[in-house]
Amino acid sequence: MGMVDGKVAIVTGAGRGIGRGEAMLLASEGAKVVVNDLGGDVAGAGGDKHPAQQTVEDINAAGGEAVLNADDISSWQGARSLVEQAVDTWGKLDVLVNNAGILRDKMSFNIEESDWDDVIRVHLKGHFAMARHAAAHWRERSKAGEQVKASIINTSSESGIYGNPGQANYAAAKAGIASLTWVMARELQRYGVRVNAIAPRARTRMTENLFGGAMSAPDEAQFDAYAPDNVAPMVTFLASDDSLDISGQVFVVFGGEVQLISGMSPLASISQPSKWSPSEIAARKGELFANHPTMLPGMPGF
Ligand SMILES: NC(=O)c1ccc[n+]([C@@H]2O[C@H](COP(=O)([O-])OP(=O)(O)OC[C@H]3O[C@@H](n4cnc5c(N)ncnc54)[C@H](O)[C@@H]3O)[C@@H](O)[C@H]2O)c1
Repeated sequence: MGMVDGKVAIVTGAGRGIGRGEAMLLASEGAKVVVNDLGGDVAGAGGDKHPAQQTVEDINAAGGEAVLNADDISSWQGARSLVEQAVDTWGKLDVLVNNAGILRDKMSFNIEESDWDDVIRVHLKGHFAMARHAAAHWRERSKAGEQVKASIINTSSESGIYGNPGQANYAAAKAGIASLTWVMARELQRYGVRVNAIAPRARTRMTENLFGGAMSAPDEAQFDAYAPDNVAPMVTFLASDDSLDISGQVFVVFGGEVQLISGMSPLASISQPSKWSPSEIAARKGELFANHPTMLPGMPGF
C-alpha cells in the first residue's frame, strides 16, 4: 500500500532538482504523475523536453505511471492545458505540486525590468495559474456531490519569509506564494481542498554556487542533508490523506528537519482610545520593541 495510492498528481518543474524527487516519490507511493518541465536554464531561457522525459522514463521503469508535459506553467493557457492533461489521461486530478521556478539574483538598485517581470511571472503567476485551474476542477467535482480530498503544495522560500538580500524579485514572489497559500486555503476548504506551502533548502543547480559551498555533498558515509530528494517525503505526506486536517500552513523542509512557520501575526502592540500623533508613537516605541530587535537580524540558518 502506497501513501497516495490511486491519486493523480501534477508536479511542475519535475525534470530535475527538488521537483524530480517529488515526482519520483509520489509515483513510488502509488500516484499517477504528470511530469511537467519546460526545461529552460536556471534563469528561464530556452526549453528542452529531455529532463522531464527522463523523469517519466525513470518512473515508468520503476513500475510507476507517468506522462510528460512540457507546457509553460506561467502562461494561463499552459496551466489550463496541464490540468486538462491530467483529467483527460486519468479522469481527475487530486494533487498539485507547484514547484517550477527560475532565478535572476541582483541587488534592488541594479535589477532590470525583465528580471522583475519574469521572476514574478514564473513563480507567482505560475503558482496561481495552476492553482486557479485545479481549483475550478475541484469545485466542479464538489458541487456535483463528490467528497473531494485534494491537496495543493506550493513552493515558497526562506528568502521570501525572511527577506534575503539580492533577491527582491524572487523573495517578493515567494512571500506572495505564502500569502496565496493562506488565501486559497480559506477559499477552498469548503470544497475539500487543502493548500499548504513548503520552503525547501537543497543543493540544486539553483543553489550549488551559493552560500560559499555550505550545501556541498559530505563524505559518502554521512547523511547528505542538502540532497534534493530529502524534500519529497514532506510533500508526499501533504499530498496524502494522512494530512486531511492540515491546511494553510508553511513548512521549512531540508535534511531531516521539518519546521512549522507561523504566518504574519502581531508580536507586540500599543494602543490608545484616540488618534495617535507621531510624537506620541515616538514616545512609546520602546513598548513595541521591548522584546524584539528594531532592525532585522541576519537570515536564520545561514
Ligand atoms: N534549492 C533550494 O534550496 C530552494 C530553496 C527555496 C526554494 N526553492 C524552490 O524550489 C523549487 C525547485 O527549485 P530547484 O532548486 O529544484 O531548481 P531547479 O532549477 O533544479 O528546478 C526548477 C525546474 O523548474 C523548471 N521550470 C522553470 N520555469 C518553468 C516554467 N515556466 N514551466 C515549467 N517548468 C519550469 C525548470 O526547467 C527546472 O527544471 C523552485 O520553486 C525554487 O524557487 C529551492
